Amino acid sequence: MTTLSQFIPQHLENHHLPEGLGSVLEAIVAACVQINGQVRQGALAGILGEAGTGNVQGEDQKKLDVIANQLLINTLKTNPNVAGLASEEEDTFVACNENGGYLVLFDPLDGSSNIDVNISVGTIFSILAKPEGGLTTESFLQKGRDQAGSGYVLYGPQTQLVFTLKHGVFVFTLDEAGNFVQTLANPQVPAQTKEFAINMSNQRHWFAPMQQYIAELLAGDTGVRGKNYNMRWVASMVAEIHRILMRGGVFMYPQDARDPSKPGKLRLMYEANPLSLVLEQAGGASGNTVQAMLDIQPEGLHQRVAVVMGSREEVEYVGRLHRA
Ligand code: AHG
Ligand code: MN
Ligand code: MN
Repeated sequence: MTTLSQFIPQHLENHHLPEGLGSVLEAIVAACVQINGQVRQGALAGILGEAGTGNVQGEDQKKLDVIANQLLINTLKTNPNVAGLASEEEDTFVACNENGGYLVLFDPLDGSSNIDVNISVGTIFSILAKPEGGLTTESFLQKGRDQAGSGYVLYGPQTQLVFTLKHGVFVFTLDEAGNFVQTLANPQVPAQTKEFAINMSNQRHWFAPMQQYIAELLAGDTGVRGKNYNMRWVASMVAEIHRILMRGGVFMYPQDARDPSKPGKLRLMYEANPLSLVLEQAGGASGNTVQAMLDIQPEGLHQRVAVVMGSREEVEYVGRLHRA
C-alpha cells in the first residue's frame, strides 16, 4: 500500500526530478481532493445546474465548473513553485508567484454536460517548466512534448488520480480516509482494439476520410477491417481516455465542416496535450490526423484541435486514410 505522499519523493529521487515539480503535483492533487468533495455532494450542497455565466470560449458554465476553477486557482496561487496558471474557464493566464519554476494549465471540470446527471467528470492538468524571463502568454505556448508532467483526476465510481512525470504512468485511488493509494503502475494501451468513441450525431458534418473510417468500422466483419467494433460515448473525454488507458480503444473528435475557424471542439492546452502525454507514456498514440499531437506548436491558450487518440495501430490507420 503506497500512498501518494510516500510515492512522490521516491519517484522524484529515482528519476532525478526537482522537488518543486513534486510540490506542484501535490498542490494540484490537494485542490482535486476538494473538488471531489464538492462533486460528491452535488444537490446536497445546492451546487448543480447552471452558473448563469459563460467562459471566453462562449460556453455556458455550470456552478461546479466555476467552483472547481476557483479551488484550483486558490490552491495553486499559494504554492511558491507555481509562477502562473491558465484555465479553460479564464480569459487570460493568471500570474502567481514570481519565483516559481512551473506553469499549470487545466480543465477544472471536463465533461460538464454530465455533472447534473451523475456521470463521471474529471479535472485534467498539464505542468510546464516556466521559461526564463517575464511571464507572458508565450511562456505557456510550449509543445505537448515539452510538458514536465500531466494527468487527471477522474470523479467516477472511484476517484482516481492518473499522472505521468514522463517516467511511466501511475494510477492512485482515493481511499475513505482521503489518501490517494497506488493501485496500478504502468498500464499499457493495447496496440489493437475493437472499440471506438465518436459523437455519431455529427456524422453528416465530417470530412471524407473520417466518413470512410467510421463506415469501415461499422461494416464490421463484412468490411475491409474484417472484425466487429463496439462503440462507447460518455461525453466526458477524461472518462473515455481512462477507459482507453485501461482496455484500449480509439477516441475521436474530428474537425468538421461546420465552422472553418474551429479545428475541432477540444482544446489543445487543457485537454488534448495532457491526455496525449499520458497515453503516449502508456504506449498509445495521439494526433490531429496530420501530425502527432505532442509535436504541434501551440498558437493560443484556448486553441482547439482535431483529436484522434488511443490504440496505436488504429490511430495510425486513421492517419493513413487522411494522407491518402
Ligand atoms: P468540457 O465539459 O470541459 O467543456 O468538455 C466537454 C468535451 C469533452 O469532455 C467531451 O468529450 C466532449 O466535450 C463532448 O462533446 P459532445 O457534447 O459533442 O458529446
Ligand atoms: Mn473539457
Ligand atoms: Mn471544462
